[in-house]
Amino acid sequence: MIRVGIIGLGYWGPNLLRNFSGTDGAQLVAACDRQAERLAPIARRHPTVRMTTNAEDVLADASVDAVAIATPVSTHFELAMAALQVGKHVLVEKPLAASSEQARRLADEADRRRLTLMVDHTFVYTGAVKRIAQMVASGEVGDIYYYDSVRVNLGLFQHDVNVVWDLAVHDLAILDHVLSARPRAVSATGMTHVGSGPENIAYLTLFFDDRLIAHVHVNWLAPVKIRRTLIGGSQRMIVYDDLEPSEKIKVYDKGITVNSDPQSVYQMLVGYRAGDMWAPHLDATEALATEAAHFVACVRDGTAPITDAQSGIRVVRIIEAACESMAQRGRLVALDATAGVA
Ligand SMILES: NC(=O)c1ccc[n+]([C@@H]2O[C@H](COP(=O)([O-])OP(=O)(O)OC[C@H]3O[C@@H](n4cnc5c(N)ncnc54)[C@H](O)[C@@H]3O)[C@@H](O)[C@H]2O)c1
Repeated sequence: MIRVGIIGLGYWGPNLLRNFSGTDGAQLVAACDRQAERLAPIARRHPTVRMTTNAEDVLADASVDAVAIATPVSTHFELAMAALQVGKHVLVEKPLAASSEQARRLADEADRRRLTLMVDHTFVYTGAVKRIAQMVASGEVGDIYYYDSVRVNLGLFQHDVNVVWDLAVHDLAILDHVLSARPRAVSATGMTHVGSGPENIAYLTLFFDDRLIAHVHVNWLAPVKIRRTLIGGSQRMIVYDDLEPSEKIKVYDKGITVNSDPQSVYQMLVGYRAGDMWAPHLDATEALATEAAHFVACVRDGTAPITDAQSGIRVVRIIEAACESMAQRGRLVALDATAGVA
C-alpha cells in the first residue's frame, strides 16, 4: 500500500485527492493547505485523513510514502525538493517547476535517491490523447505535417504565470508525448491587456528538423471556450475537440497526392483524396484516475512514469524559450539539446 499526502487543495488539488482516495494500492493519509478553510470540507468527507496547514507536517510524517503537490508553480521546486530530500516519492502538478534549471535539479535529486518523480501532464492520460499517440506511433497517420491547436476561453487570470505557463503547457506536453521528434526552435508572440501583468494571449510556433510545424494559440480573454486541435498527416488527418462529450476525435481519410507533371519538370500535380471519416471509441476513464494508478504502480515497481521528470524538463525548457522569444516580439529561439533530444 502506498500512503499518499496531498499538498495544495485550491482548485486542482481536490481532484488529485478524490482520485487518489479511489485508487487501488493507495491510501490517502494526509492533506495540507495553508488556508485552513480549504481543509474543512475535505475533513468532513475523509475523517481519517490527517489535516494540516503546514506542509512540513506532511514531510515529517514517516507514514507518508509519496506526496502529490498542487500548489502554485512558484512553490513547486521548494516543496518537491524538500519532499525528495526526506525520501518521499513525488507527483508534481504541471509545469514541473518554474525554470528548467529547477526542473533538472529535481530530476537529479530523484535519480540520486532512486525515488519516483512524475509530473501531472494530465492530457497525456486522457483516452483521446492515448488514442492519438497510438495512431501516430502505428504509422496510421503517416508523416506528421502539422499540429495546430486553439486553447482559449474567458480564463482565470493568474498572477504568477502567463498564459503560456498555464495553458500552452498542455499542448507542449501532448506534443512531447505524441511525437518522437523534438522541436529545434520556437518563436512566440504575446500580449498583456491587464496593466503590466503576465501575457494573457500568446501564439507559439515550434520548428522541427523536418517539415513538421506546430502552432499553439492560447488566450484567457476569449468570449467562448475552444479546445480544438488539428493534426495533419500524410495518410490521415485528425480533429481533436476536447469539448465534444463523446466523439472527441474524428479521423479523416483526406489528403493530397503530389505527382510531377510529365509535361513540365517544374510543375507539381496535386490530387485530392476524400475518403471516410470515423470517430474511434475512446477509453472514458478520468485521466487523473489513470494517472493516480500509474503513479502508484511506478512507486511500487520502481518503473519510470510516462510523464517522467525528463518530459517535465523538456516542456519547461520550451516554455522558457517561448517566453524569451515573446519578450523580443517573436525572435526565433533555438532549443538546446536537453529540450531537443529525448
Ligand atoms: N493538470 C491540470 O489540468 C491543472 C489544472 C489546474 C491547475 N493545475 C496546476 O495545479 C497547481 C495549483 O493550481 P490551482 O489552480 O489549484 O491553484 P490555487 O491557487 O487554486 O490552489 C493552490 C493552493 O495551494 C495552497 N498553497 C500554496 N502554497 C502552499 C504551501 N506552501 N503549503 C500548503 N499549501 C499551499 C494555497 O493555499 C491554495 O489553496 C498549479 O501548478 C497549476 O498549474 C493543473
